[in-house]
Order: sequence, then structure tokens, then C-alpha cells
Amino acid sequence: MLALVTGAAGFIGSHLSEKLVEQGHDVIGIDSFTSYYPRERKLANLCSLRKSGRFTFIEGDIASLNLRRLMEGVDGVFHLAGQPGVRSSWGAGFSEYVHDNIIATQRLLEASRERDILSRFVYASSSSVYGDSEELPLMEQRIPRPNSPYGITKLAAEHLCQVYFRNFEVPTVVLRYFTVYGPRQRPDMAFNRFITRISKGLQIDIYGNGEQSRDFTFCDDIVSANLLALRATPGNIFNVGASKPIKLSDAVELIERLVGKKAKIAYRPGAAGDVKNTYGDISKARREIGYSPRVTLQKGLESQVGWQLESELESGVAVKA
Ligand code: NAD
Ligand code: UGA
Repeated sequence: MLALVTGAAGFIGSHLSEKLVEQGHDVIGIDSFTSYYPRERKLANLCSLRKSGRFTFIEGDIASLNLRRLMEGVDGVFHLAGQPGVRSSWGAGFSEYVHDNIIATQRLLEASRERDILSRFVYASSSSVYGDSEELPLMEQRIPRPNSPYGITKLAAEHLCQVYFRNFEVPTVVLRYFTVYGPRQRPDMAFNRFITRISKGLQIDIYGNGEQSRDFTFCDDIVSANLLALRATPGNIFNVGASKPIKLSDAVELIERLVGKKAKIAYRPGAAGDVKNTYGDISKARREIGYSPRVTLQKGLESQVGWQLESELESGVAVKA
């Protein structure tokens, strides 16, 4: 297969591209290196991919690239490019969310309309489309009610996927990822911050009382879901979570044990846009595409802690024992 992976220099897109190449596929990776976090980190994510003859990298914004030409011969699209982050989607930055999540998605769908041989267009959506809900676990048929501007842009992009499927048969499949972690996790996310700061003896901020829970999902399980989505019936939406929600305070304790240091915690007011709990019902993905998350929080965090402490040492940000 010739796959197009958008957001290929990002956290999840780089893992997915590596897996596709490892499985013998050719991959065109696109990324515009948005300024949300440093370019150097994204270049580091691409390091091993760039050594592969099966991987071609294009730097550019999918909203303005000549996608029709780029997509010649492509049979699978994995659309992960986007502006992530729930809490930073308020205020002036919202225009970037609109551009990278809605406009860019619409352009890619337009370019995909003309590709008769496209087998699947897999979209990276988010549990944030659900919003706050007392009724758990979350099922796909729940009426979405996002609680953040970010969630609204992800939901708009989902709807774009659905209308291009219904009107033009673009074979879209929407995956709703639940808080993803693992090596290369974005530096704005909770585990990345906590690991670095606890290991350096610095204070961590917990928004709210730490009782909120998340269905933290390891990146390799998300990669598997993307590959399995190639078998999904187009027009479908699937939750892809671990389906094992954990309280944030329990996750902090686990990080303390793995890092070997106690956290200095400052409790801050709850953040606007955050939801209390996420917990995905994954029975539809199990049944229809054979998705089965394999990595426990203990194992996954061991892997992220190992990667993070090693990369900090390499980059000279030495972590003193
Ligand atoms: P990331 O920021 O590491 O990766 C996204 C990449 O897309 C970045 O490298 C960025 O430069 C690129 N990009 C953004 N806009 C672009 C554009 N217009 N053209 C080309 N490239 C562009 O984020 P991530 O955590 O790997 O998330 C990947 C996708 O998964 C996002 O769409 C995000 O909304 C979604 N998602 C992530 C999580 C999570 O927990 N990480 C959960 C749910 C959904
Ligand atoms: C994550 C991603 O960042 C979103 O891009 C994604 O769409 C979303 O998952 C999803 O599942 O849809 P979030 O759950 O907020 O969003 O992930 P984290 O940044 O890891 O935060 C987890 C929890 O820790 C949140 O309650 C947050 O408020 C809290 N947190 C985060 C802190 O208490 N302190 C911090 O320094 C950072």
C-alpha cells in the first residue's frame, strides 16, 4: 500500500508511519511543523523514518499544498495532522484550531473525492467530542456535546468526514482516541510534564483535585487501531481507548514509583474545557475491527518514563539522581 500520513512528525503520526514502513508499506508523510511545541522534537520523531527508503517526507500545510498531485497513487489516508490540546483552545489561538482541524480536513477530503482507488480515509478524532458525561462508559451513538473549542473543531471535522462519505463515497472511518501516552508524547500533556518535573524535583500542577479520571491509552494500541481501521466499513465511528479509566492522582503515584521520587504537588483550579471523566466503551471496535488494547498503564508508563529520561539526558537536560 502507498499510505499518506498527515501529521507524520507528531507524536502519534510518527509511530504510525514507523509501523507502516515496518510492515512493508510505502509512506508519504506530511507535516507543517506548527509552533505548538518545538520543531526539534518533531525532527527527532522523524529520525529513524528518514533512514528508510520507503518513507518520503513533505514539509507543508495540508490546507495549501497541491494535494491532488501529492495523492497520486495513494491508497490509504491516515489523517492525524491537527491542532491538539483541550485547555489551550480558548482565546485568540482558536483560529489555529479552525485552520488545522477544520479547513485542513476539508481540503484533504476534497482532494480524496477524486481518488477512486482510495481504500480508506482514517481520521484521528478525539474523546473530547463527547464532553462531560455522568453516563459512562461512552458509546459512539451518544449525542456529542463538546466542552471545549478544541472538541468542537474535532467534531466538525468528524461531520466533514461523514458528509464526504455520504455524498461522494470517500471511504472515511473515524477513530475517537482517548488520552494517548507513550514515548514522544507531546510536552503539553500531563504525563510528559509530570515525568520531567518529578524527576527534576520540581513542583507539578494538578488542575482540580486529582480525582478526575482518564481512559489513558498507549500509543501502540492507537497505531494498531489505525491499521485495523483499513478493514472497517466506511462511514463508521469507533472509540479507541484502553477502556480502563484511572484517576489522575493514581497515575501520579505510579509515576512517582517509576521515577523513584515523590511529587511536589500544587493543586490549581480546575481548567476550563476539561471534563471530569473519560471512559470509552470499545465493544464496537472489538466486534467490528478486532481492536484489542494490549498495553497496561504500568507497562506503558515504564516505556514513556524510560524514553523521556533517556532523551533528556541526551539533549543535555541532565536529570540529577
Ligand atoms: P502532535 O501535535 O504531536 O501531532 C500533530 C502534527 O500535525 C504536528 O506535528 C503538527 O505540526 C502537524 N500539523 C498540524 N496542522 C497541520 C497542517 N495544517 N498541515 C500539516 N501538518 C499539520 O499531536 P498528537 O498528540 O500526535 O495528535 C495527533 C492527532 O490525534 C491530532 O489530530 C489530535 O487531535 C488527535 N488526538 C490526539 C490525542 C492525544 O491524546 N494525543 C487524543 C485524541 C485525538
Ligand atoms: C488529551 C489530548 O491532549 C487531546 O489532544 C485529546 O484530544 C484528548 O486527550 C482526548 O482524549 O480526546 P487530556 O485528557 O486533557 O487531552 O490529556 P492530558 O493533557 O494528558 O491531561 C489529563 C488530565 O491531567 C486532565 O484532567 C488535565 O487537566 C490534567 N493535567 C494536565 C494536570 O492536572 N496538570 C498538567 O500539568 C496537565
